[in-house]
Amino acid sequence: MSSTIDSSLAPLTPSFSPTTPHPESSTTQSILQHLNLQPHPEGGYFVETDRDPLRVPNTFAPNPSSKSVETRSASTTIFYYLTPTSPLGHFHRNKARTVHTLHKGRGRYVLIHADEVKGGYDEWTNLAGKARVETFVVGQDVQAGERLQWVVEGGKYKASFLLPDEKDGESSDGLLISETVVPGFEFEDHDFLEQERFETLVTPEQAKEMEWMVRK
Ligand code: GUN
Repeated sequence: MSSTIDSSLAPLTPSFSPTTPHPESSTTQSILQHLNLQPHPEGGYFVETDRDPLRVPNTFAPNPSSKSVETRSASTTIFYYLTPTSPLGHFHRNKARTVHTLHKGRGRYVLIHADEVKGGYDEWTNLAGKARVETFVVGQDVQAGERLQWVVEGGKYKASFLLPDEKDGESSDGLLISETVVPGFEFEDHDFLEQERFETLVTPEQAKEMEWMVRK
């Protein structure tokens, strides 16, 4: 089967999933402990390592469902870690842009550029499968096109999943990255992609290939 998203890459299927148990290696367990990583609501693990004390004005459109804070931290940084037992970061978006830096492991990113389509940021607009979908591999093999750094602009839906450490292998000690959010992370700037909206953004074929990355 070829991918409905990017014909130069393999179809989007999980390499690690709860139905095919992959025990955490001692390396993975040690990294979780030493970095004090906690489960993230998106999947995977995280810890906030920096929050700039400088406050900057909040220029994002107010969120109707919560009382908006007038300012943001200038930036925040986290470690984010996908492991064989928590190998998937479900589709979500942030209003702020995020700079990602790889430390270890391999993974695949999938972006749905809902914000590029007129009305794409609105909750109730049906985009009739017109949103552009982008996918790329992050890893150390820069000669093969794997990325060491990647930036996701605000308003894009993003999902990520763990790939084996070696291209032909099956095991992984996890994908460890840093994410710097500018301006800094606040939960009110974050939301998950819901199944109903997902189905309006992409084609039915793309939805079939990607729906396992939508939080249920
Ligand atoms: N708290 C929960 N999730 C996040 C996140 O993604 N970034 C930061 N900085 N804090 C969080």
